[in-house]
Amino acid sequence: MDPREYEIMYHVEDHHWWYRGMETITRKLINQHIQPKTKIKILDAGCGTGRAMTTYLKEYGEVTGIDLYPQALDYCRKRNAKLLACASVLDLPLATASFDLVTSFDVLYEKGVLHEIKALREFFRMLTPNGKLLLRLPAYDWLRGEHDERVHTNRRYTKSLVKELLQESGFILEHISYANTFLFPLAVMKRLSEKLFPSKTQSDLTLETGIFNEIFKHILSSEAGIISKFGMPYGLSIIAVARK
Ligand SMILES: C[S@@+](CC[C@H](N)C(=O)[O-])C[C@H]1O[C@@H](n2cnc3c(N)ncnc32)[C@H](O)[C@@H]1O
Repeated sequence: MDPREYEIMYHVEDHHWWYRGMETITRKLINQHIQPKTKIKILDAGCGTGRAMTTYLKEYGEVTGIDLYPQALDYCRKRNAKLLACASVLDLPLATASFDLVTSFDVLYEKGVLHEIKALREFFRMLTPNGKLLLRLPAYDWLRGEHDERVHTNRRYTKSLVKELLQESGFILEHISYANTFLFPLAVMKRLSEKLFPSKTQSDLTLETGIFNEIFKHILSSEAGIISKFGMPYGLSIIAVARK
């Protein structure tokens, strides 16, 4: 990822509508598919600047974060994260079968992970029997935009591709859905305008959403129930729950 993106991410992820909406969706899926009765062990693979691991994931148990980039881990430390390792998802320096849940949010699509199957097999190895993987990836390669340049996107996915990758790496798929569906038309318009009127690359996260931040947050959060029950037919992201 462009080094400037970590700084932006660290500063916006507590209030930006996208992170807050995705948090609601993620919580819903964890509550539905993992239903932890006791505290569980979680690995956040590609933890970035650490918001998920130090806020809502830690409510479910003990969270270990790994990321390839030391700069990301420095931001995690600012958030008081303690269980951290600088490592690649392609080769995890952690004991086999030591986590009940592996989360990986928007990591495997990066150029730093050229071989997703290898990473997924590492996640599989990390999990206890019946342990769960919660995976989020960006959807549709044709939606590639300037933001993808900044975050070094290797490729964007479809639901069927994610299904294939999970099955090939040994997982049993429990649930898969697109997400960020209601705002999809706006995103398509933005991508089209970027293509028609190219400008200096800008991170999507710097978009000044102003009063729309609350509105967009509610719109995205409102998808949680539908995603967990029926699934969304299209959207900007793909979310999957799979079992070892
Ligand atoms: C778009 S960020 C997502 C961060 C976080 N999961 C979130 O949802 O905010 C992608 C993260 O993947 C990390 N990353 C990229 N390649 C990696 C690899 N091979 N191993 C571990 N982390 C990697 C990047 O450093 C970055 O922090």
